[in-house]
Amino acid sequence: MFIADEKRYDKMVYNRCGKSGLKLPAVSLGFWQNFGNGGCFANMEKMVHTAFNLGITHFDLANNYGSPYNGSAEENFGRILDGMRHYRDEMCISTKAGYDMWAGPYGDKNGSRKYLTASLDQSLKRMKLDYVDIFYHHVFDPNTPLEETALALDNAVKQGKALYVGISNYNSAQTAEIMEIFRELHTPFIVNQPSYAMLNRWIERDGLDKFAEENGIGLAVFSPLYQGFLTDKYLKGIPADSRVGKGATWIGNELDEKMVARLNKLNSVAEKRGQKLSQMALSWVLRNKAVATVLIGASRPEQIAENAACIEKLDFSAEEIAEIEAILGE
Ligand SMILES: NC(=O)c1ccc[n+]([C@@H]2O[C@H](COP(=O)([O-])OP(=O)(O)OC[C@H]3O[C@@H](n4cnc5c(N)ncnc54)[C@H](OP(=O)(O)O)[C@@H]3O)[C@@H](O)[C@H]2O)c1
Repeated sequence: MFIADEKRYDKMVYNRCGKSGLKLPAVSLGFWQNFGNGGCFANMEKMVHTAFNLGITHFDLANNYGSPYNGSAEENFGRILDGMRHYRDEMCISTKAGYDMWAGPYGDKNGSRKYLTASLDQSLKRMKLDYVDIFYHHVFDPNTPLEETALALDNAVKQGKALYVGISNYNSAQTAEIMEIFRELHTPFIVNQPSYAMLNRWIERDGLDKFAEENGIGLAVFSPLYQGFLTDKYLKGIPADSRVGKGATWIGNELDEKMVARLNKLNSVAEKRGQKLSQMALSWVLRNKAVATVLIGASRPEQIAENAACIEKLDFSAEEIAEIEAILGE
C-alpha cells in the first residue's frame, strides 16, 4: 500500500478552476503517452507516486489513451489506483470521450449521447471508479447537435458518474455556444482543455483565453512543453529514446535547425532566470490568468519532479517577456 509524503501539499500551488469551487494543482499529470501496455508498469506506478508526493492531485485521462489498444492507460491507472484508493478523495481524476474509440458508428469520432454515455461507463469500469471528477467531450463535433452533446454530459452529472463537465479542443465561438446550453441546464461546466505553449499560441489569436477568463471557465492546458521541444532534450540533437526519436509525434518534422537555434536561445533566458527550459516554459503558460493548470506528460519520474519545480518561479519581468517575445518572433 502506497503511503504518501506528508509534506506533499507544501510543494505545489493550487488554482481555482475558473470561478468554480474546484482547485487544481498548477501542474497536473497527463496519461496520453507512456501509460499503455507497451511500457514498464513499475515506471508508470513510480511516475504517479512521484507526482502525488509533489502535490500533483490532478490526473488527466481519456478513453482512447494508451497503446497497443485504446483504454490501456485507464486500465493501468486503475491498477496503480489499487494501491492508493485510500487517497481517492485527495485526487481529481478526469476522462474524456470524443475521438475514435471502438469500431462501428457508435465509437468513432463523434459527440453523440450514445457514444459519450457508453464510453463513460467503460472508463469507470477500467479505472474501477464510481465517478470521475471531470468528464470531457474531447473534440468539437460539427455533425452532432451541441444540445445533444451538452445533454449527454449533463446526464453524466445527474447520474452521479461525473462531478463536473468540460470540453476540449473547442474554440471560443464553440465554447460560447455550448456554454449557453449548459447555463440553461445548470450543468457544472467549469473547464476547457486546449493546447497552448510558447510555440503554440492559437488560443491567444482565437481569444479563447480572454473568453474563458471573462466567463469564469478555467483552462487546463495540454502539451505545454510542445510535446517535449521546450525542454533541454533536443538542444543538441534528437535522442533515440525521445518522443521525436521514437517517431511518436507528428510534429517531429518541425524540429529543424531554426527551431533548435530558437530553443537554445530560450534556454539561455531560462538559465538567466535560474530555471530549466522546461520550467520556464511551464511558468510562461501559467502566467496567463485564464490557465488553471498545465497538463504535462512524462516518460520518467525525474521529468515530473523537474517540471513541478516550475512553481518556484512563476513571475516574469517585463524585460524577460520582451526577450522571449523577440525570440519567438524570429
Ligand atoms: N485534449 C486533448 O486533445 C489532448 C491532446 C494531447 C494531450 N492531452 C493531455 O495533455 C497531456 C500532456 O500532453 P503532452 O504529453 O503532449 O505534454 P508535454 O508536457 O508538452 O510533453 C510531454 C513530453 O515531453 C518530454 N518531457 C517532459 N518533461 C521533460 C523534461 N523535464 N525533460 C525532458 N523531456 C521532458 C517527455 O517526452 P519523452 O518521451 O521524449 O521523454 C514527455 O512525454 C497528455 O498526457 C494528456 O493528458 C490532451
